[in-house]
Amino acid sequence: MFQHIEPYAGDPILSLNEAFQKDPRADKVNLSIGIYFDDQGRIPVLGSVRQAEAQMLAEGGTKSYLPIEGAAAMRSAVQSLLFGPEHEALASGRVATLQTVGSSGGLKVGADFLKRWLPGSAVWVSDPTWDNHRAMFEGAGLPVHTYPYYDAGDAASGRPAGGLRFDAMLETLRSLPARNVVLLHACCHNPTGVDLTPAQWQALVPVLRERELLPYLDLAYQGYGDGIDADAHAVRLLAASGLVFFVANSFSKSMSVYGERAGALSVVCGDAAEAERVLGQMKATVRRNYSSPGLHAAGIVSRVLDDTHLRPQWEAEVTAMRERIAGMRRSLHSVLSAKRPGHDFSYFLQQRGMFSYTGLSPAQVDRLREEFGVYLVRSGRMCVAGLNSGNVERTASAMAAVIG
Ligand code: LMR
Repeated sequence: MFQHIEPYAGDPILSLNEAFQKDPRADKVNLSIGIYFDDQGRIPVLGSVRQAEAQMLAEGGTKSYLPIEGAAAMRSAVQSLLFGPEHEALASGRVATLQTVGSSGGLKVGADFLKRWLPGSAVWVSDPTWDNHRAMFEGAGLPVHTYPYYDAGDAASGRPAGGLRFDAMLETLRSLPARNVVLLHACCHNPTGVDLTPAQWQALVPVLRERELLPYLDLAYQGYGDGIDADAHAVRLLAASGLVFFVANSFSKSMSVYGERAGALSVVCGDAAEAERVLGQMKATVRRNYSSPGLHAAGIVSRVLDDTHLRPQWEAEVTAMRERIAGMRRSLHSVLSAKRPGHDFSYFLQQRGMFSYTGLSPAQVDRLREEFGVYLVRSGRMCVAGLNSGNVERTASAMAAVIG
């Protein structure tokens, strides 16, 4: 029966994380997966989250199923978080929001919905993008193509790596057929850490509108760029521009609740009647996938976002995580610059969010892992949030050694 089944090659990010766990070296450093670690190398449980859980436990309550679309309290809290509480799109009821199983669940539900209701559409992702985007949309049966995004530089002309190929990106988007889907990272681009500026987002809007494209925002790192509201800039701009679009957002990183699978999918529609039909068909999609999302995730998220004491506590905790990463960027930059004078490491300071795109080759990444126990994704992506005051010096020395 199963003789023909091929072995799974493994996921490029999750397999590395598993390999790291099995590595017996005491001084190993995990800079592979997009997880925030504190300065002691632990994945923190935020104080705001602990208190929300304590409240839930004290109150008891049932363990019944949630509705297909998730908890009403979480869905409305997500809408205010993303769009701001006063947004016209919310007031007019034209946003359909579902609580989903992480933002991956949201991306997948959205992908299945697109395959069913916009069957001729292709999906365009940035070059490069998160390793799982292509697999997810192709898995739903949609063709996936790339638009230019990250400038890898040009040794011949001396053009340095690290910028955004914004003109080339716009040129490609201008050539797309109507109803094609454009996947955009709302902030803290994964894997490069290179984002559009507010002015570039503004310049993107008329292109999306004129070409009748469907933007699909992935917002997985809210709070890790400039702040919780600032990182929702793209969502609010697109909504204010009257565009119809999707946004999948995650609380895995912003609330440090990775295993709770807390996320949502929102679709900004033309009007309230359209939003109701979209929500209905999204519910049908969820029912065929996983039936309904998790109760515990909804309780944490809605309490932290809605409680007048927990909300500011959470915002302060997100600020602290963001600032610790910025401090690690500065440390890595200064140690590496001292060890390899003449080499430009300014990208560590310019790139935003959890990731830096180091430009290290797969061979250099392999050497870092094998010789020094420092784990990066083979694309050269480094999760800066895995650095701490105890490992940054050694990591910089290892990088200096492989750069040669
Ligand atoms: C990452 O990019 O490392 C994270 O988003 C975790 C994942 O699922 O890949």
